[in-house]
Amino acid sequence: MNNKLVSLISREEIAETVKRLAEELDRDYKDRTPIVVGILKGSFIFMADLVREMKTDIKDIEFMRLSSYGSSTVSSGKAEIVLGLPEGAVKDQDIIIVEDIVDSGISNNTIIDYFASREAASVKLCVLLDKPARREVPVKIDYRGFTIEDHFIVGYGTDFDQRYRQLPEVCILKE
Ligand code: IMP
Ligand code: MG
Repeated sequence: MNNKLVSLISREEIAETVKRLAEELDRDYKDRTPIVVGILKGSFIFMADLVREMKTDIKDIEFMRLSSYGSSTVSSGKAEIVLGLPEGAVKDQDIIIVEDIVDSGISNNTIIDYFASREAASVKLCVLLDKPARREVPVKIDYRGFTIEDHFIVGYGTDFDQRYRQLPEVCILKE
């Protein structure tokens, strides 16, 4: 397996953008105590950097995990939640979802429904990378780091077959 990595977004650009997103969140959540929910596994590095830049009084940090899905799921427009939040943890809470990438939009569609049915007070989506060319279902992104072309990327938490998450930059994976 001879994969080639090409840097797309540098550490400096990522740091600048994470800071900018934290400022936007701090401004909007000034008088609230939101729960920040990272979507495993891809968001783990982004989430760790983001919350450390935020001055907002964060009430809790949580994680969710969705099953990976093949093209068969595209028709239903839903993914399966394999790790959710504790019972009663969501009702009347302000939720900030932290995602690595919005691609087809199916993961996000599933997550938004999850929080709506559990009566969250508000739900906003903060995403590092947006790939609009690949969208299958519409997604409202409230806080967006970068818009990128239709590349397969790895690094800064994102993977190919679980590899490359540790890379400090966002890279394009070329075969
Ligand atoms: P969705 O298609 O919007 O539901 O995105 C599902 C998930 O696929 C994202 O949260 C990422 O974890 C993953 N993903 C999408 N595009 C890429 C990519 O280019 N590299 C690595 N993971 C990706
Ligand atoms: Mg993900």
